[in-house]
Amino acid sequence: MRIPLIAANWKMHKKQSEAVQFVEQCAGLLAALKPEIVICPAFTLLAAVGETCRRYGLRLGAQNMFWETAGAFTGEVSPLMLKDLQVDYVIIGHSERRRLFGETDRQVAQKIKAAYQHKITPILCVGETLEQRQARQTMAVITEQVSTALKGLDPADVSKIVIAYEPVWAIGSGLAATVVDAGTVAARIRTIVSEQFSMQTAREVRILYGGSVNRDNIAEFMQAAELDGALVGGASLEASTFASLVNTAAEVAFL
Ligand code: PGA
Repeated sequence: MRIPLIAANWKMHKKQSEAVQFVEQCAGLLAALKPEIVICPAFTLLAAVGETCRRYGLRLGAQNMFWETAGAFTGEVSPLMLKDLQVDYVIIGHSERRRLFGETDRQVAQKIKAAYQHKITPILCVGETLEQRQARQTMAVITEQVSTALKGLDPADVSKIVIAYEPVWAIGSGLAATVVDAGTVAARIRTIVSEQFSMQTAREVRILYGGSVNRDNIAEFMQAAELDGALVGGASLEASTFASLVNTAAEVAFL
């Protein structure tokens, strides 16, 4: 059985005191039965947030990393450094990284490989732009992004991956994909993994939807059989909003 997962992508938000307070407040509002919860703060917050998360049984994620272990790479953060802070997950290939910082599918693949080498679970983000969607290229784009990212990996590693389907046009726009569309792409992702590895591996991969998820629409996404949770940006920034989103997700997931 796939364990439902809700990940908070804080992007470039919050100072340390706010971040720690968020985790404490949020944890106090969570129902006893919860999905796996991953908080992904900026690098500067990882140590403090991680320590607080561990007290409440929440998991820690980074938003990005470089693939090299150490060296002359000014401004980069290595998997070894993340592991040192007991980071459990790392978001790889978020569309903001791809679009604003020019990350390619090949670089994404290198990062995924490095994450596994250091026993950090990748949350691979894939998704089409509005232009690609209008040109009916969604499935082609997703296929290319997923298969390049997973090429050459050990099937046992792949079964642990989390893949977030995040249509670029839905991120931060208030315009979420329909549950049917998200479910269709998720099913396609499972087929890609199945063809590249095996049906068993594909069955174990957790697939999230991301893009304007909020506490009002989370229930619908959790009901979709192909989806195992959500990657949440804007609606993860305020403790009570995020806690109520997580509680709603749990109600549906553990029905
Ligand atoms: P959003 O962001 O929930 O604000 O749309 C999601 C994401 O970028 O991961």
